[in-house]
Amino acid sequence: MRVVVFISGRGSNLQALLEDQNHYKVTHVISNRSQAAGLTTAERFSVPTTVIDWRDKIQAEAQAITLLNNVKPDLIILAGFMRVLSAEFVAQFPRKIINIHPSLLPLYPGLNTHQRALEDRQTIHGATVHFVDQHLDRGHSISQCHINIKADDSAETLADRLLSKEHALLTTTVKKIAQGEIYWRNKQLYYNNQIISQPILWSNT
Ligand code: GRF
Repeated sequence: MRVVVFISGRGSNLQALLEDQNHYKVTHVISNRSQAAGLTTAERFSVPTTVIDWRDKIQAEAQAITLLNNVKPDLIILAGFMRVLSAEFVAQFPRKIINIHPSLLPLYPGLNTHQRALEDRQTIHGATVHFVDQHLDRGHSISQCHINIKADDSAETLADRLLSKEHALLTTTVKKIAQGEIYWRNKQLYYNNQIISQPILWSNT
């Protein structure tokens, strides 16, 4: 399975994907920022990269669509990509785009998820891998990982603790898609012949 990854910054989720490419291959990395550290990681793994200036969103999306139509990925992964894709863009790649979001969706779509979980005095936090549709952070959830919130957690400690779990969640989910264990049939999402009505929780994540 051919995968294209969109990033904006650090790229630790990208690195986890690059280190785990037995069942899929990252064939291209797209960043909206030329300074994104993840670009250096991609180059270290000899993966071609393209920086697209997203200040003109219409032009940027047109450039990305042309590139994707050349590269022909089976799956597009948003891994810390900090731009919202338009409905028109998403419609070009139906059921092909997934995102990793650092909250237990539908809780806390958007930004500052760790801080918002703390302010609400949640005891459990986590991350979600979901398909991307035209609504921000509201496409079909696939899988989640959970962590306990400690009394002395700050947004930073929570983010740090969650991150390694995110990596396992994302790579496991992508592997299951690559192996055909997670798939769409008649507009329903399945995991091993069962419709996914609740996000999957794997014990290792
Ligand atoms: C991760 O927390 C991811 O869930 C969120 O942005 C962060 C990206 O981190 N969407 P990295 O760039 O993969 O290190």
